[in-house]
Amino acid sequence: MSSSSEVRNRDWYKRMSFYQIWIRSFADGNGDGIGDLYGVYDKLDYIKSLGVDGIWFSPIYPSPNADFGYDISDYKNIHPEYGDLDQFKKVLNRAHELGMKVIMDLVVNHTSDEHPWFIESRKGKDNPYSDYYIWRDKPNNWDSLFEGEAWEYDKIRGQYYLHIFAKKQPDLNMDNPKVREEVKSIMRFWLDMGVDGFREDVINFISKREGLPNGLPFLPAAKGMSHYKDGPHIHEYLAEFRKVCDEYDCFQLGEGPMTTVKSALNYLTGPTKSLDMMFSFDHMMADCFFTEYMHRPFSLVKLKKAFTKWQKALDGKGWNALYIENHDHPRIISRYGSEHHWRESGTMLAVSYLFQQGTPFIYQGQEIGMMNIRLTSIDQYVDVSSKTNYNTYHLKESVEKRLQRIHVSSRDSSRTPMQWDDSPHAGFSTAEPWFFVNSNYKKVNVAAEEKDDDSILNFYRRCIALRKSSDTLIYGKYNEFFPKHKELYIYERVLNNERYLIVCSFSRLPHRMRTPDPYKGKTGELVLCNYSDKPLKDDWLKPYEARVYRY
Ligand code: GLC
Ligand code: CA
Repeated sequence: MSSSSEVRNRDWYKRMSFYQIWIRSFADGNGDGIGDLYGVYDKLDYIKSLGVDGIWFSPIYPSPNADFGYDISDYKNIHPEYGDLDQFKKVLNRAHELGMKVIMDLVVNHTSDEHPWFIESRKGKDNPYSDYYIWRDKPNNWDSLFEGEAWEYDKIRGQYYLHIFAKKQPDLNMDNPKVREEVKSIMRFWLDMGVDGFREDVINFISKREGLPNGLPFLPAAKGMSHYKDGPHIHEYLAEFRKVCDEYDCFQLGEGPMTTVKSALNYLTGPTKSLDMMFSFDHMMADCFFTEYMHRPFSLVKLKKAFTKWQKALDGKGWNALYIENHDHPRIISRYGSEHHWRESGTMLAVSYLFQQGTPFIYQGQEIGMMNIRLTSIDQYVDVSSKTNYNTYHLKESVEKRLQRIHVSSRDSSRTPMQWDDSPHAGFSTAEPWFFVNSNYKKVNVAAEEKDDDSILNFYRRCIALRKSSDTLIYGKYNEFFPKHKELYIYERVLNNERYLIVCSFSRLPHRMRTPDPYKGKTGELVLCNYSDKPLKDDWLKPYEARVYRY
């Protein structure tokens, strides 16, 4: 990208930053202990104050919550616990007035088993919804990702149904044209209301190989994945959905578990250009393999390799969706940073990804440095995949050890109520919240950080504003320096004659800065630093120090 003329109009999402809301834990507006759209409405000014330009709502539809919203029982409605369609429209209109876009989660790999389509489908083979799901007399050997085998016997129908995720999440049969029409009708429903796009859940899984052949062991608990990841008709189906999107001014962001750069490029730049951005996972595996439950020590070199691979591969072709936290991953400070260097590592981690090429996403609570919760018994956890992991692996280890594994890996770690202030329940609700509040809320909360100029919160604001102010930081080329360095992550962004140098120390000790060749003997302007006091020495970085220079 060299001039603004190359920046197509349709690419407005490239200039944006997004805030992700996982509504149940965001803000309770009606005092029942559950986050809702009344709470969201009250906090829209706060979200806007971060400098972001859009909101992604994790599912807010009716759901029995076997997977907290990702098991949908009605795609064209709002979960009564969260409000109703009128309240949603209020939120949408107010967000638009504030200049923020709103994107919805489109979860169409599966529904809830309580969705009327499934209730009908299980009644028998003559039912009009019979082929909405994937039924077989005999299961194949596939594993589900959340709960044992991928097939569950249904007594009513007398057959097995496929579920790649939990038992209560039967997979839709996307080969059925009627199902695809339903998807398009769901999209139109929300687009007609005024939403601006979709985050498409596990979208690379929706087309299954004909005949559903047995799978080879692929990864722990993922037998069969090679037969449904990037399946045979995926691009045809996504092209149909793309057509709908093209009737509106909207964009599509696909979530792609285990996606490689090669397959991502097929989605982003292939003939159908079926997606605008993809959430990839490589960089979330710098301390684990496949899922956080398969923990290994954090490796900065692995993290950098993943970042750089995606930055390089997509440059000038596709566009990255940048994130380091969401509702599926434990909190990043507790993983790649240090709880002991909470403020320093929280701010440094922000710099590490917000200035890469792509559209940044910030997950609720990330901007105040929320950290993992430590619960004392497995019974206190509510996430289906955490429970399965606990009950399936490392059974010979002590309870303490297994709980520690859950503590570092559970999705519940990032699903605790948002910490608004130091009043009871962290200001999230006037009632007992539906889930545990992290006991650190007296220190880690929005109100306290609003008052502190050096807080993580205010630092996020500065980062977001800086990115937005510069075409170089938005469109510039990315180059990494010293990729093998074990403590420092150093990259630049270059456009025309302007350069930004971004330096992040992942060390808990002071560390000597390294100056990459193009910068030797030149003095840049220090435009951002996460230490407000004077640097130790110009070429020494303090623990978890991050600096951004402009040249
Ligand atoms: C996606 C969602 C996750 C959900 C899964 C199944 O990965 O982000 O929360 O459990 O899909 O829908
Ligand atoms: Ca509520």
